[in-house]
Amino acid sequence: MAIEIIATGHYVPEKRVTNDELSWVIDTNDEWIRSHTGIGARHVAADDQATSDLAYNAAVEALRQLSPENPLEAAETLDLIVVCTSSPDFVGFPSVACVVQDKLGLKSTPAFDLIAACTGFVYALDAAAAMIQTGSRKRALVVGADVLTRITDWSDRGTCVLFGDAAGAVILERTDAPSAGPERRGLVQSILHAEGSGANELMCTRGGTRNPFKKGEIVDKTGYLYMNGRAVYTFAVKAFTDMIRELLDADGISIDQVAKIIPHQANERIIQAAAKRLGIEESKFYLNIAQYANTSNATIPVALDECARSGGLTKGDLIMTVGFGGGLTYGGNLIVW
Ligand code: ACO
Repeated sequence: MAIEIIATGHYVPEKRVTNDELSWVIDTNDEWIRSHTGIGARHVAADDQATSDLAYNAAVEALRQLSPENPLEAAETLDLIVVCTSSPDFVGFPSVACVVQDKLGLKSTPAFDLIAACTGFVYALDAAAAMIQTGSRKRALVVGADVLTRITDWSDRGTCVLFGDAAGAVILERTDAPSAGPERRGLVQSILHAEGSGANELMCTRGGTRNPFKKGEIVDKTGYLYMNGRAVYTFAVKAFTDMIRELLDADGISIDQVAKIIPHQANERIIQAAAKRLGIEESKFYLNIAQYANTSNATIPVALDECARSGGLTKGDLIMTVGFGGGLTYGGNLIVW
C-alpha cells in the first residue's frame, strides 16, 4: 500500500507587482531586492479575494487533472480536506478548509486547517497521509494557501518586499503500489521538527488572545507580521542543511539519487548557502521565487505543480521537499513520484 500524489494544481492572483513598481511607493529598488533575495516580482490577491478563494482555485486545478470536464464531480470522491495556511480568512474559525469544502459543493467531508507557517505543507502531507493510511479514508485534498500581503506592513521595506500570494494543491490517494523496495511509490518518509523557543523571531503579534485588539483602540498597524530577518536567516540555513542530511540518512540514500528538491523559498540566498554547505548543484532545486516571492504555505505545492507540469518530473523520480518557517518549524518529505 502506498500514499501517492495523483494530481496537482496551483493558482496565483492576476495582479503582479514588480520590484520596480514597489520602488515607486517605498524606499527600495530592484537591485537590492534581487541581490539580497532573488525576488523579481510577486502576485497580490484582489481586494475581494481571501485565502479560501485562492485555495479553492488551486484545488479545482488539481481536481481537473482527475476530471478535466467536471472537476467538481471529482471533488465528490474526496474523503478529507486539509488546508495549511498562516493567513486564514477568519481568526479562529471557521477554518479555510471548511469554506473550501462548501465552495466545492461538499456536504460532510471532514475538513480542517493546520498551522505550521511555511513548513505547513510538509506537515500537512504527513498528517493527511497518516489519516488515509488508517483505512477509512482513501483520498485527501491537501492545499497550501496564503494571502500574506494582507498581513504585511507595506511601509516596512524589510518585510513587504519578501511576500506574495498564491495557493497550491495536491490530491493524495491510498493505492496498491508498494511503499518499500525498488518499485516503491508515493510518500516514503517525512521528518518534522519545531523549535518553539524561536517563536518570537517570526510572528503575527496582534489580534490573537495574547495581544487582542482592545475596544476603542485606534489600530494603525493591524496583525502585521514581525520578523527578525537576520535570526530567521541563520535558523533557515541550518534547518535547511540539517533537513536534507536527515532525510538522506533516514532513507540511507545519497543526494545523487534525488532527482529534484522542491524547497520552501523565502530567500534564494538561504538555498544557495545550504547547497554550498552540502555540495549540491543549484540545478537540483526547483526555484520560482523570482516570479512569486515567498508565498509561505503555497510555495512548495506551487513549485511541485509547476515542476511536474513543465516535465521536470518523471514517474519513479525520488523528490524531496524541505520547509522552514515561523514557529519556528522545519521539516521535509521524501516522495517517489
Ligand atoms: N530595500 C532596500 N534596502 C533595504 C531593504 C529593501 N527592501 N530592506 C532592508 N534594507 C536595508 C536595511 O535598512 C539595511 O540598511 P542599513 O545597513 O543602512 O541599516 C541594509 O539594507 C541591510 O539590511 P538587513 O536587514 O541587514 O539585510 P539582510 O541582508 O539581512 O537581508 C532579509 C534581509 C532579506 C530579510 C534576510 O535577513 C532574510 O532573508 N531573512 C530570512 C527571511 C526568511 O527566511 N523568512 C522566513 C519567512 S517564512 C514564514 O514562516 C513567514
